[in-house]
Amino acid sequence: MKPTVWLVAGARPNYMKIAPIYWAVREQPSPAFAVELVHTGQHYDAAMSDDFFRDLDLPPPSINLAVGSGSHAAQTAKVMIGFEQVLLERRPEAVVVVGDVNSTAACALVTAKIAFDGAAHRVRPVLVHVEAGLRSRDRDMPEEVNRVVTDALSDVLMTTCRDADANLVAEGIPSERIRFVGNPMIDSLLRCRAAARRGTLLARLGLRGRPLALCTLHRPSNVDVPEVLEELLDALAEIGRDLPVLLPLHPRTRQRIEQFGLAERIAMLGAPARRCPDRGIVGLEPLSYLEMLEALAAARFVLTDSGGIQEETTALGVACVTLRENTERPITVTEGTNVLAGLRKPDILKAVVAARAKVARGARVPELWDGRAGERIVRALAEAVCSS
Ligand code: UD1
Repeated sequence: MKPTVWLVAGARPNYMKIAPIYWAVREQPSPAFAVELVHTGQHYDAAMSDDFFRDLDLPPPSINLAVGSGSHAAQTAKVMIGFEQVLLERRPEAVVVVGDVNSTAACALVTAKIAFDGAAHRVRPVLVHVEAGLRSRDRDMPEEVNRVVTDALSDVLMTTCRDADANLVAEGIPSERIRFVGNPMIDSLLRCRAAARRGTLLARLGLRGRPLALCTLHRPSNVDVPEVLEELLDALAEIGRDLPVLLPLHPRTRQRIEQFGLAERIAMLGAPARRCPDRGIVGLEPLSYLEMLEALAAARFVLTDSGGIQEETTALGVACVTLRENTERPITVTEGTNVLAGLRKPDILKAVVAARAKVARGARVPELWDGRAGERIVRALAEAVCSS
């Protein structure tokens, strides 16, 4: 029997990282291993989960732990308990975790410590981290803790850029465990770009051929503190004097806007969408993956606190202003279209000008962000499962 590799996803930014690995295996005539999709259920709304599986042409996961929301400890613990049980029952040969969400660290911890009683072939699965080595050096960020823990435990560390390799080596990870494979998120973007161009979001909003800016906000550090969220909305309102600023709302952000009494600052467009106004902040339901790509490609510029969108804008050559004090993806600043703005309104307005100037001068797409990371990951996985 062929070895089995589990691809684990938990939350919205994970799906576009596992999809290229799944596709690369599916498209091989005789793959060295079988793959199974495992969902922890950290994200569970259709708009945060099922819609992405549909857009990415992924089958429903064979296992869903349905852990749902909770405090960091509760969510991590629920994933660990559920994942340990299925791992003991099904005994895959390798577990691939991606990115930096709570599910990533939880499944890494379980895989690193599991022992298969009486297994003739192996004591525990090989643990592989895709998107290893990114560091913001800000331990107040839950994702940074998840990255450090996951990398410390992984047997094979696959990286999206060379600065990640350097970070891992500096932390004492032996270089033979590190594989620079490129960025699988960009595989998903390139593969889905044509379908996104045929999308109807802009037409439904009456935005075809009209200027727009796009903003996403969901980090607790930005949306959970009323003064911070208020200043960010002030900056968006200023930008919105010239063009509509589309703001698809993460459930957390929407809750906070309502809780802090800021809802009247946003023109909410419900579904079915109405024509978008010419100016101001325009709130939308969360976008599907294809809708997000359609909006990103059409935007004059993007403002975001997401990690993935910093990379997607760099790949698309669209100006990006990052609403954070730091980034674990410095290559998007040094080579790409990204400018780190911080959280103050004057700095954000200046950063919009700087990011647009960067695009006008011509930014670069980083090495191996070429749409073939999935194939390289599958080759490295075949080596790892067949040699262990
Ligand atoms: C998580 C990740 C973050 C990632 C983000 C993308 C961690 C620590 N954080 O943050 O790195 O950038 O996903 O979205 O893992 N909720 C729903 N429906 C859902 C999911 C969540 O309503 O399907 C609401 C719940 O109120 C929940 C809150 O959103 O409490 C936060 O969800 P959670 O998974 O804890 O973290 P995110 O903020 O989404």
